Amino acid sequence: MKILVLNGPNLNLLGIREPEIYGKVSLEEIEKDLTGFAENQGVEIIFYQKNGEGELIDLIHRYYREIDGILINPGAYTHYSIALRDALLAVGKPAVEVHLSNLYKREEFRQHSVTAGACIGYIAGFGVDSYRLGLIALIDYLKRRDKDGASGKA
Ligand code: DQA
Repeated sequence: MKILVLNGPNLNLLGIREPEIYGKVSLEEIEKDLTGFAENQGVEIIFYQKNGEGELIDLIHRYYREIDGILINPGAYTHYSIALRDALLAVGKPAVEVHLSNLYKREEFRQHSVTAGACIGYIAGFGVDSYRLGLIALIDYLKRRDKDGASGKA
């Protein structure tokens, strides 16, 4: 099983960026944690961070044929990128959206996700654990789907 993990703009600055909201853990540490966890499950992770909307879309186009699912933190694109939403829908791979912060506790403009509706589910508010929880949910969904031959919970 292969999972594409995508991180949107400014997430490369995790650890430095507004630590009171996003915590002190760097994206490299998140990558290491996810890769180690996935390896134990026999899952391969392809991990990227890009600041550009088009770059994220290009990665979805480039990898969709060889992956089983997508774990994505679209960063601020969450709130307005219809193009990213369309890319997720276009490739039809099960995706899970994750956020470090609880968007519903934040500014009103963060309280709507245009991309989450293109995903099977959404996890937010658990800091770096959101990634691990999202990955567990996605792997579980894919294993169940493969076992049952059904479309799963979505
Ligand atoms: C974020 C939430 C977004 O609103 C913000 O623009 C980010 C990070 C999060 O993980 O909490 O860049 O996606």
